[in-house]
Amino acid sequence: MNDNQELNARRRTLLKQGAALGGVAALGVLPAFARAQSDKIRIGLMLPYTGTYAQLGVAIENGLRLAIDENGGKIGGREVEFFKVDDESDPAKATDNVNRLVTRDKVDVLVGTVHSGVALAMVRVAKETGTLLVIPNAGADAATGPLCAPNIFRTSFANSQTGYPMGKVLADRGVKTAVTLSWKYAAGEESVAGFKDGFSRGGGKVLKELWLPFPNVEFQPLLTEIASLKPDAVYTFFAGAGAVKFLKDYQAAGLKGKIPLYGSGFLTDGVLEAAGDAAEGVETTLHYADSLETPRDKTFRLAYAKRFKTQPDVYAVQGYDTGLLLVLAFSKTKGAVDKPALIKAMEGAVIDSPRGQWRMSKAHNPVQDLYLRKVVGQQNRFVNVAVKGLDYPPADRCKMASS
Ligand code: PHB
Repeated sequence: MNDNQELNARRRTLLKQGAALGGVAALGVLPAFARAQSDKIRIGLMLPYTGTYAQLGVAIENGLRLAIDENGGKIGGREVEFFKVDDESDPAKATDNVNRLVTRDKVDVLVGTVHSGVALAMVRVAKETGTLLVIPNAGADAATGPLCAPNIFRTSFANSQTGYPMGKVLADRGVKTAVTLSWKYAAGEESVAGFKDGFSRGGGKVLKELWLPFPNVEFQPLLTEIASLKPDAVYTFFAGAGAVKFLKDYQAAGLKGKIPLYGSGFLTDGVLEAAGDAAEGVETTLHYADSLETPRDKTFRLAYAKRFKTQPDVYAVQGYDTGLLLVLAFSKTKGAVDKPALIKAMEGAVIDSPRGQWRMSKAHNPVQDLYLRKVVGQQNRFVNVAVKGLDYPPADRCKMASS
């Protein structure tokens, strides 16, 4: 008998005894382990609610709540209690923040976060404590690479996975030279590395890599340098409020229309209203687009817009898929926090997502289609599938210790 079967058997015995003792009145004498099944599942939500990534955190939480609400507000038949922390996208505060959720709030599952540097602290704590962690955005390649672990899953992407297709698309078009420009931390570095891999395999050359510290938005000197380097293309990783400022500065510097601007799709996702025509025509690659027009996506977009009075973006989809993954896993265990069984269910998960169907790789990262998109009006319009079923970076960088 495994732990879970044993617990259930003890519960059944206790319930019989409880019935013999007079039903409801007897519940008060049930020991804690027997009550646990009827208590709420505790989800620790660690996301940015302030700073340049604040909107991203809100969209992820919205998506997660929508998926759970569509399942009657429950996962595995149990109600859910959220414990929330604003991580401010600040790696210096990350270890304290995640320890608070694990030690003080005793959460059953950690969900977080957006910023790769903060996520890496969550990964360390999850590895030390064995807490289940689902990453709904942060793309730090290491989380599903060298630092992978049985209890760590991602429902979003790996940073290099979203850069590689853009490099490939440009090289296939015969573009010869590019300059890259990004925030200098894991997300930007890995996004650029993926781009360079795709671009150089097809014969393209990166003339120069330009960087600025996160979340700095003093783009002007770097834009001046790009103007003098005159590359055929510029590839960027920026997101959230920083992306809006970058798009506007690129246009104001007179570069828009002269040197085509590309990026991983975070450059234009969730920012189109704020960026206005500065974003028009920009092409990016990402695992979501606003006009996929599949029945699954249409239903999701309608439900999201009705509930939150705003259009969903890639972050909302990732939050939603995190909810779908938790619903699926806990339905297999009937609500029990049976880690080996939850891990097994998540490893075998095939998610019927608004982005299209995806599955977990061996390293616990989505294997998914990456789309080429173009900003038209206020939409990241689907252009075509840039790479189908992309499992990248190669899953062999993850040596999974057994669960
Ligand atoms: C990250 O830090 O991994 C990150 C942040 C924002 C994004 C994408 C990736 O939009």
